[in-house]
Amino acid sequence: MKIGVPKEIKNNEFRIGITPDGVQTLISHGHDVCVENNAGVGSGFSNHDYLKVGATIASYSKEVYQYADMIIKVKEPLPEEFDLIQESQLIYTFFHFASSASLTKAMIDRNAVCLAYETITDDQGGLPLLTPMSEVAGRLASQQGAKYLESPQGGLGVLMGGVSGVSPADVMILGGGVVGTQAALVAAGMGADVTIYDINPNRIEELQAIMPKNITTCLSSLSAIEKHLPKAHLVIGAVLVPGAKAPKLITRKQLRIMQKGAVLVDVAVDQGGCFETTKATTHQNPTYVVDDILHYAVANMPGAVPQTSTKALSNVTVDYAVKLANFGWQNACKQFPHLANGLNIVQGKVVHRSVAEVFSLPFVPVKNIL
Ligand SMILES: NC(=O)c1ccc[n+]([C@@H]2O[C@H](COP(=O)([O-])OP(=O)(O)OC[C@H]3O[C@@H](n4cnc5c(N)ncnc54)[C@H](O)[C@@H]3O)[C@@H](O)[C@H]2O)c1
Repeated sequence: MKIGVPKEIKNNEFRIGITPDGVQTLISHGHDVCVENNAGVGSGFSNHDYLKVGATIASYSKEVYQYADMIIKVKEPLPEEFDLIQESQLIYTFFHFASSASLTKAMIDRNAVCLAYETITDDQGGLPLLTPMSEVAGRLASQQGAKYLESPQGGLGVLMGGVSGVSPADVMILGGGVVGTQAALVAAGMGADVTIYDINPNRIEELQAIMPKNITTCLSSLSAIEKHLPKAHLVIGAVLVPGAKAPKLITRKQLRIMQKGAVLVDVAVDQGGCFETTKATTHQNPTYVVDDILHYAVANMPGAVPQTSTKALSNVTVDYAVKLANFGWQNACKQFPHLANGLNIVQGKVVHRSVAEVFSLPFVPVKNIL
């Protein structure tokens, strides 16, 4: 199969869809790989690194899209990339369709085959291709939160760990999955007083058993969250209902009961955000203020640490990339049902129920198209 790897063009996005090691694996299975010029530089990989393992280099993204049967990317295609996508081309990347009607429409119109990393599943009920990026984003969420709590950054001027005789920061984490757990561990490691809220009682039980003493768990409800808000310094949004829009857990009205300069970090922004006042931001302009509350809502947080993130992503995407290339997407999805769960839009049809529901589009079950 001919595989193309374009350069990412999202604001301050320095990741690339696959490392040279991953390319070498694909080539060892008899496939051809074409990488866009300097696409890996931000992640620490030169053109030469890709040439050395047998890839070719294309000068422009247009060449890559025209060449490839399968495109391997990191982030969802942006409007500048929509027209480059070829009829029936397989696009293997993060999409997060529920947060963008225009992306959904464009992919339907392009007749593309959209395999979304974020809805591929595993036997344990997890999302194995989302997990490493969630680990990165979770850890970053507390780092960023700590920074924006500083007064010169617009925050209320509280140190995460406090000091002798002065209480640490109060950190609320909404969602105790991968992002929430990693955010909690970093915040707790900095000495903050952390509470994790989740609606899944089993998850709460698991977390309670393994977390350090300065992390408390709480079964989530809108009233429990509201009660906690007046004393919170930092709130991290980390909920997920796979494929669907994130539920809104903090309303604009509730910002008034919070302390001025408190910080909201909405990691769930890629699924539409879990605060009513969330709007997606970029690494260039990561924050904005609503009613004296500082918001951070960067949709591609792991892009800030590309050397870590590219390797972590490639570690989990290459295996399925090989299967897709060896068998073709239809046969690979027939053989591996967890991979088939990644299919969101296929040649004009929405085959992921949650995406169809968000936009009231007709839903076609995957089995009907395989
Ligand atoms: N902004 C970024 O750069 C970035 C990067 C990686 C992941 N993410 C996003 O972060 C979010 C979380 O990802 P994850 O991997 O941790 O998911 P996850 O599935 O591991 O965890 C989500 C948790 O949210 C809980 N939850 C669901 N609804 C809830 C509610 N109403 N109240 C409280 N808890 C609720 C679930 O029980 C689950 O434990 C996703 O939207 C993901 O796409 C964003």
